[in-house]
Amino acid sequence: MKLMIDDAHIDLIQTIYEYYPVDGVTTNPTILAKSGRNPYEILKEIRAFIGEEAQLHVQAVSREAAGMIEEAHRIREELGENTYVKIPALKEGFKAMKALYAEGIPVTATAVYMPMQAFLAAKCGASYAAPYINRIDNMGYNGIQVAKNIHDLFKNNNLKTEVLAASFKNSQQLLELCEYGIGASTVAPDVMEGLVKNQAVTSAVEDFIKDFEGLTGAGRNMSSC
Ligand code: E4P
Repeated sequence: MKLMIDDAHIDLIQTIYEYYPVDGVTTNPTILAKSGRNPYEILKEIRAFIGEEAQLHVQAVSREAAGMIEEAHRIREELGENTYVKIPALKEGFKAMKALYAEGIPVTATAVYMPMQAFLAAKCGASYAAPYINRIDNMGYNGIQVAKNIHDLFKNNNLKTEVLAASFKNSQQLLELCEYGIGASTVAPDVMEGLVKNQAVTSAVEDFIKDFEGLTGAGRNMSSC
């Protein structure tokens, strides 16, 4: 499973990249709005930091296909080849996805709440479909189950599209999808930081340090004893 960061704060992205294995960055209009800056200014900073090879996902906001396609061209022009254009999985979006696929522009179908959206997006040539786990849970359905169903649906129909699960609130949600072998997930920095936060782990490591320093002296380690 590829693991991406769902955020646009360059400092947070840099920190997460420094400590964790990350495959790319996803954004959405709400995430960009939080910065109060020009979207391309922020996105270019992110692209410069993550490099040309990493995936960057950027959403189009037009209501009609023609506008989405125009946005896709500008997004790719500004941010490079490895930029996936997020297109909402609804009627106008499907029209745009087909046209973009024909042009060879990679698409991430977004705002996915139902498997049928993902199926149609995949048939239109989307590279990813992004079900919103937590938002689906909040509607009284099971977000994890929806993501698993979409994964199965792709496999059973020989569709190359992968699930890019989004909208996580905790590590258990991510773990379940990781165990299931879905293609990719994107998580906010705070969720990433919480993935392995565990008092038992911290305490075990602290005990080892204490015992070692008891043997060799305070501040000593294997390179200085
Ligand atoms: C993904 O495509 C969405 O932009 C995003 O992950 C939604 O996350 P949220 O429900 O935490 O806002």
